[in-house]
Amino acid sequence: MRPEFLSPLMRIPPDIVSVADYESLACKHMSASAWAYISGGAADEVTLAENHAAFTRLRLKQRVLADLDGANSRVTILGDTFEYPILLAPVAYQKLAHPEGERATALAASALQAGMVVSTQASTTLEEIAATARAPIWFQLYLQSDREHTRTLVRRAEEAGYRALVVTVDAPVNGIRNREQRTGFTLPSEVAAVNLRGMRPLAAHTAQAGASPLFGGPLLSSAPTWEDVEWLMGLTSLPVLLKGITTDSDAVLAVNCGAAGIIVSNHGGRTLDTLPATIDALPAVVRAVDGRVPVLLDGGIRRGTDVFKALALGATATLIGRPYIYALAVAGAPGVAHVLHILRTELEVAMALTGRPTIGDIDLSAIW
Ligand code: GLV
Repeated sequence: MRPEFLSPLMRIPPDIVSVADYESLACKHMSASAWAYISGGAADEVTLAENHAAFTRLRLKQRVLADLDGANSRVTILGDTFEYPILLAPVAYQKLAHPEGERATALAASALQAGMVVSTQASTTLEEIAATARAPIWFQLYLQSDREHTRTLVRRAEEAGYRALVVTVDAPVNGIRNREQRTGFTLPSEVAAVNLRGMRPLAAHTAQAGASPLFGGPLLSSAPTWEDVEWLMGLTSLPVLLKGITTDSDAVLAVNCGAAGIIVSNHGGRTLDTLPATIDALPAVVRAVDGRVPVLLDGGIRRGTDVFKALALGATATLIGRPYIYALAVAGAPGVAHVLHILRTELEVAMALTGRPTIGDIDLSAIW
């Protein structure tokens, strides 16, 4: 019997030269339902498509004959220096894409000196990932309905050497994931949220006919609020970034609450469909934050020019999600390293051709 999908490639063919090349191959290296989970978005996937389309609509302004001596794409975030402003976003269950999962990702991030944000729902323990990583790692935290469980996760992340916590605030419930529903997505037995072992999930809410399928159940009554974020700030001395903010009002609340940074994100178009593209939401957040904390962005980045555009509109750095997971599925750790290299090269070419020798030189005047 033929396997349902191809094994990861042992060497990267020379005709893979862009994120899009990895994207078009990735579905052959994953089961149909893993592909639906990873590549899919919420509902009609309007936001998923818009995240990238909005980057494509922006045009750059060229400058010629600029002095590029000493050029670099280095950036400092929360006291750590990153060689380039592209971090790996938290993505759950990476063993769906490759048997080595998050360990392969951490190896690639270390080799390419990229920051990595490890998901609460990783399929490898946070300690094992930390032991592999040689570049700064941050831990993405879902506030748990039981504060003791949150406390345990925070302590484990602190002890393992994570440099910051990234609290995802935009997903108290999953989005409407029609693509997953159509393929009947469930986790295979060898893939699990191993960091949450022993932490009982909330019982599924089964509503009577005529009752609300969501409201009145335990999920939303224990969903985190600003008060829980404030409690978390008192629990840890690690910097806490809030991820999943798309409005100026929430950005102000986040900063007032003590957030050390904000990640403008719509969860890769996976939560509330028809939210705007993150690059369109970014300027209002940057204005509201007014330099008090770094503002990062994820969603839709497929080219170094997209990274450049985010920086021009005020982001301190960017994160990529699906691009590196596609590369992980196609070619494991070397694939992830290759995607980082591709995007860094594209960013630096864009900097050279717009006459911007450092990240600090990239501003709104680089947009047409
Ligand atoms: C998890 O965060 C997901 O988007 O599936």
